[in-house]
Amino acid sequence: MEEPSPVLDDLLRAGGMDVVRYEGSPDEDRLRALLAEHRSQVLFKRSQVPVSEDVIAASEHLLAVQLCCIGDDSVDKEAAAAHGVMVFNDPVSNGRSVVELALAHLIALSRRLYETEPACRSGRWDKSSSERYEIRGKTLGVLGLGNIGRQVARAAEDLGMHVRFYDSRHAPCEVGLEFGWELATSVRDLLRTSDCVTVHLSATDVHGRSNRGVLDGGLLHELGADRPDESPRIFLNLSRGFLHSAESLLDAVERGAIRRAAVDVYPKEPGLDQAWTNPYAREPRIAVTPHIGAATLEAQPRIARRVAHTILQFAQYGTLRDCVFDPRARLQLLEEGARGGQNLLAVAHATTRGTKRVVDEAIYDAGASNLSSVHRDFESYGIAYELAEIDRPLDEREVRALVEKARTLTGDDRAMRSVRLLRAPTS
Ligand SMILES: NC(=O)c1ccc[n+]([C@@H]2O[C@H](COP(=O)([O-])OP(=O)(O)OC[C@H]3O[C@@H](n4cnc5c(N)ncnc54)[C@H](O)[C@@H]3O)[C@@H](O)[C@H]2O)c1
Repeated sequence: MEEPSPVLDDLLRAGGMDVVRYEGSPDEDRLRALLAEHRSQVLFKRSQVPVSEDVIAASEHLLAVQLCCIGDDSVDKEAAAAHGVMVFNDPVSNGRSVVELALAHLIALSRRLYETEPACRSGRWDKSSSERYEIRGKTLGVLGLGNIGRQVARAAEDLGMHVRFYDSRHAPCEVGLEFGWELATSVRDLLRTSDCVTVHLSATDVHGRSNRGVLDGGLLHELGADRPDESPRIFLNLSRGFLHSAESLLDAVERGAIRRAAVDVYPKEPGLDQAWTNPYAREPRIAVTPHIGAATLEAQPRIARRVAHTILQFAQYGTLRDCVFDPRARLQLLEEGARGGQNLLAVAHATTRGTKRVVDEAIYDAGASNLSSVHRDFESYGIAYELAEIDRPLDEREVRALVEKARTLTGDDRAMRSVRLLRAPTS
């Protein structure tokens, strides 16, 4: 639903899946009915249709929600974990499109294009160089040096800008220093020492804490404070709408701390076909785009290819990647194209003490051997994933015994949240 690229349907069918495409964006009741009617095991969606606890609880066949985008705010992840529904996104495929939009905004703002074009169109001939800048030689502050931030930094460097950055994780800092960029000591330091700032933060920081409001509290007023008076003082946010309030940005622009800004994301964004009120409507120096960072003809088929691969690998080999419970986790036993025919047991279970042991014992009790296994606790969501290669498949009775034993041992009715027996495809 929400119209992912049709490339997705072809790839899933080629991988042996049945696909039902829903045009448009259903409300909660309709979504629940659709999932039940088709006994759907995987839901593919973009960022708008909410997947609530009620929908998840009612969808007994659902094993996974695959987001055809990065943002995962539309899914109740705690509810998904509680019901053993794995949630996946695509953290990489649309990066380039966002990078190009950031550069487009940066150059457009530095030349006042958003004001100049409509004025010129209506007959106003303003050739003044006032508040029009080259970006070459200016300092770009990149807040968040992940997948997108680092691509923006490289492109800006190619355009002659100096790059400073700040990131709370060690690995991106190493990458930035390796490129010869300057590491700021804090968000405030980055803002004060940059002529232009572009924000590419994820929703949470290295400790899993929400970044909601990280740029509030007067921070935006400090942009370019340590730069010369004629600094362009441009601000871009193409990452998350909740990093600052609309009021904070309006205030910083209206007081002249920021000369111009562009935003692609908002504290409140509408669902499909819903009306929207631009919180920056009164301020022409803040340019707005409707969350189109990833909306390019190139990005959508790229996303389709990646998410199809993620789900086919999950379905056929139990592999886990791009799981929003921990984006850095990768659990895999077999590679596509491997010999095939192996028996796999893929279990999502509670992190309650003793639950993992029940899985191991169930394999043993059934007289099967665990040939190799990988395991991951997603502690903050209370769910774990276990993938084991076993020398013979468990039968239905043995699986029921596994579920029952986990329930008895832990006192948790939902200790075992999903149990899948897979046979790796032979090519
Ligand atoms: N506008 C759009 O259409 C669009 C499209 C794609 C992605 N996005 C958004 O862009 C953002 C960046 O995407 P990405 O793929 O580069 O993500 P990423 O996870 O690769 O990078 C985010 C970086 O921010 C850093 N970070 C997080 N919190 C921090 C904090 N408080 N202080 C310092 N550093 C912090 C992380 O350590 C990480 O290196 C995401 O929020 C994503 O949702 C927007």
